[in-house]
Amino acid sequence: MSALIEFRDVCKTYQMGDTLIRAADHISLQVQEGEFVAIVGQSGSGKSTCMNIIGCLDVPTSGTYLLGGQDVGKMNKNQLAEVRNKMLGFIFQQYNLLPKLTLLENVEVPLMYAGMPKAERRERAKLALELVGLGDKLRHKPSQLSGGQQQRVSIARALAGEPAVILADEPTGALDSHTGREVLTMLQQLHAAGNTVVLITHDNSIAVQAQRIIRLEDGRVIYDGDAHDPQAVVTPGAAGLGMGREAGA
Ligand SMILES: Nc1ncnc2c1ncn2[C@@H]1O[C@H](COP(=O)(O)OP(=O)(O)O)[C@@H](O)[C@H]1O
Ligand SMILES: [Mg+2]
Repeated sequence: MSALIEFRDVCKTYQMGDTLIRAADHISLQVQEGEFVAIVGQSGSGKSTCMNIIGCLDVPTSGTYLLGGQDVGKMNKNQLAEVRNKMLGFIFQQYNLLPKLTLLENVEVPLMYAGMPKAERRERAKLALELVGLGDKLRHKPSQLSGGQQQRVSIARALAGEPAVILADEPTGALDSHTGREVLTMLQQLHAAGNTVVLITHDNSIAVQAQRIIRLEDGRVIYDGDAHDPQAVVTPGAAGLGMGREAGA
C-alpha cells in the first residue's frame, strides 16, 4: 500500500535578492490513509509552504510530491485544479464563505466546480450541514451565524465532496478557546469516522489533539511521531517549554 501523501526530498526555495530562502529544505514524509496529523512549527518554519504543496496550490522546486500515488509536480494547471477539487477539502482560518450565498449554496460551490449534478450536490450539501449540526439553518446567510458556526459551515463544505484529505490551516485561529475546542472535537470525530485529516498550526496545545505531530523548523522536519510523546512538543530555542503559545502563524 502506498501512502496517501508522500514527500520525497521536497525542497521549495525562494530567491530574495542575493539570498536563497529554503522554505522547505529536503522534507520527506508520508501520511497514510486514515491518519490525523498536525504539522506544527513557529512562524516562518515552512508550514504554509507545506500546506500549499499538500493542497496542490504550489509545486516543489525539487523533489517529489505524490498524492494518492500521483506525481503532482508533473501536472499542469488544469490537472492540479481537478486534483484539488476531487481529492482535497480545505478548512481555512478565515472560513472563506461567500456572504451573499446561503449555507447550502456555500457548501455546494466546490461540488459545482467538481462537476456534480445539481440534485446530487444539493443532497450532499444538506447532509454535510446536518452532520455539523446546522441542518436547521440551510437557508441562512453566513452573517447570521457565530464564528464557530461559520467554521462548521466551512467544515461541511470541506467534507461534502468526500475528499481523500481534509486539510485544515489554523482552523481555530479566529475562534475563542471554547469554540476552538468544539472545532477540534469535530476534526477528531471526522478522523474517528475514517477521514484523513492534516491540521496546520503554530500552537502546540492544538497540535497535541492530533494523533501524530510533524514539527518543522527552518523548513526541516525536526520531529515526526506520536503526538503524545513529550518530545513532540519540545520547541527548540524555547528552553524546552513545549506547551507555550508561540506568536504569529
Ligand atoms: N513567496 C515567498 N517569497 C519569499 N519568501 C517566502 C515566500 N513564502 C514564504 N517565504 C519564506 O519561506 C519561509 C517559510 O514560510 P512559510 O511557509 O510561510 O512559514 P509558516 O507558514 O510556518 O509561517 C519564511 O522564511 C518565509 O519568509
Ligand atoms: Mg503560515
